[in-house]
Amino acid sequence: MVRGHASHSGTARFSARFPKLTAAGHFRQPEHVPHLSHLWLSSIGIGTYLGEVDAATDQRYTEAVEEAIASGVNVLDSAINYRFQRSERSIGAVLKQTQVRRDELLICTKAGYLTYDATVPADPRRYFIEEYIDAGIVPREELVAGMHCMAPSYLKNQLDRSLGNLGVETIDVFYIHNPEQQLGDVPRDTFHDRLRRAFAALEEQVAAEKIRVYGIATWNGYRQDRSAKDYLDLAEIAAIAHDVRGDGHHFRAIQLPFSLGLPEAFAKDNQRVGARRVSLLTAARELGIAVIGSAALLQGKLAGRLPEFVRERLNCETDAEAAIQFARSAPALTTALVGMSRKEHVKTNLKVATRPMAKMEEWESLFQKQH
Ligand SMILES: NC(=O)c1ccc[n+]([C@@H]2O[C@H](COP(=O)([O-])OP(=O)(O)OC[C@H]3O[C@@H](n4cnc5c(N)ncnc54)[C@H](OP(=O)(O)O)[C@@H]3O)[C@@H](O)[C@H]2O)c1
Repeated sequence: MVRGHASHSGTARFSARFPKLTAAGHFRQPEHVPHLSHLWLSSIGIGTYLGEVDAATDQRYTEAVEEAIASGVNVLDSAINYRFQRSERSIGAVLKQTQVRRDELLICTKAGYLTYDATVPADPRRYFIEEYIDAGIVPREELVAGMHCMAPSYLKNQLDRSLGNLGVETIDVFYIHNPEQQLGDVPRDTFHDRLRRAFAALEEQVAAEKIRVYGIATWNGYRQDRSAKDYLDLAEIAAIAHDVRGDGHHFRAIQLPFSLGLPEAFAKDNQRVGARRVSLLTAARELGIAVIGSAALLQGKLAGRLPEFVRERLNCETDAEAAIQFARSAPALTTALVGMSRKEHVKTNLKVATRPMAKMEEWESLFQKQH
């Protein structure tokens, strides 16, 4: 198991290896975020969600992650359920042999969805019952839609598995994966109670040095209207973390899609801080929480689909470049994640990092704010 975690000196050392990218502003510190503000983090991170569940894709991800680290990416994102734990293991294979030191990298993963171990077992239902329910890891009454759980015993179990898959002693950012899934099944006060217990358990894991900070990664929750059943109110969630651990709480990172196709984090004032209605990005900045944007290419759909004026305004040659430039240039966004299982994509996408961020006027002119 590799010891350590991302540190100021490690991430500064990493960025110093890429003077051209550093000069262009590719590495930035989430200055407003306690426990993370000292880190230099790349504006583009590598995601490992999509792809076949096979050995060829494992190998491609390992090569892509290697290429990413060699090209100036120090934010690595996974989830235990991505490709049935195989994406975490592909990252683990890189961490085992890379020359790059552990303290240079921000390693992030998620737990919440039940997953198989590498392949689909002969009897999937029986596998989950024996492995999780009968073993007392997933309390039956806390399993939602047959696939989601955020009970403390389950999160702790998944964290230990992720540490093993990644081959590290500490994960920098540990997210609860799409907790809004639970709001389809349980009332909001039950949901809040589950979050409170989850946060208390994760604070214990911080104390045990298995994680540095924790957070919530979502697809819908932070983008919805306030009236939606699965809407998430960031200030309300931060208040729960505050109840659990006071000002020193470690609920310090969130993830949601942010792209030309899903710009709500900036464009929609669906959050509230005090009496003010604000966007998610503003709320997170004021609450001291880092925002990591996911799916910068809208899961590949933006590549080859953008109108010419978007490329022109962002001064980019290709659609993928323009989409990545848009995502990483959002104010108060720490890192834009791009899923890349091919090193060729890493090579082309990282060209954007040699350029300064988009100018705010040009960036804002691309969409209109919704209220
Ligand atoms: N709820 C959540 O927590 C959540 C949800 C979604 C995503 N995420 C995270 O965010 C990461 C990024 O999102 P995503 O992977 O869903 O979507 P994405 O980044 O929008 O798109 C990834 C897809 O784009 C392709 N691609 C990359 N560069 C390209 C290029 N230059 N030209 C054409 N195609 C290109 C990739 O292909 P190759 O694989 O062939 O390189 C992959 O199929 C995920 O991997 C995951 O880590 C989190």
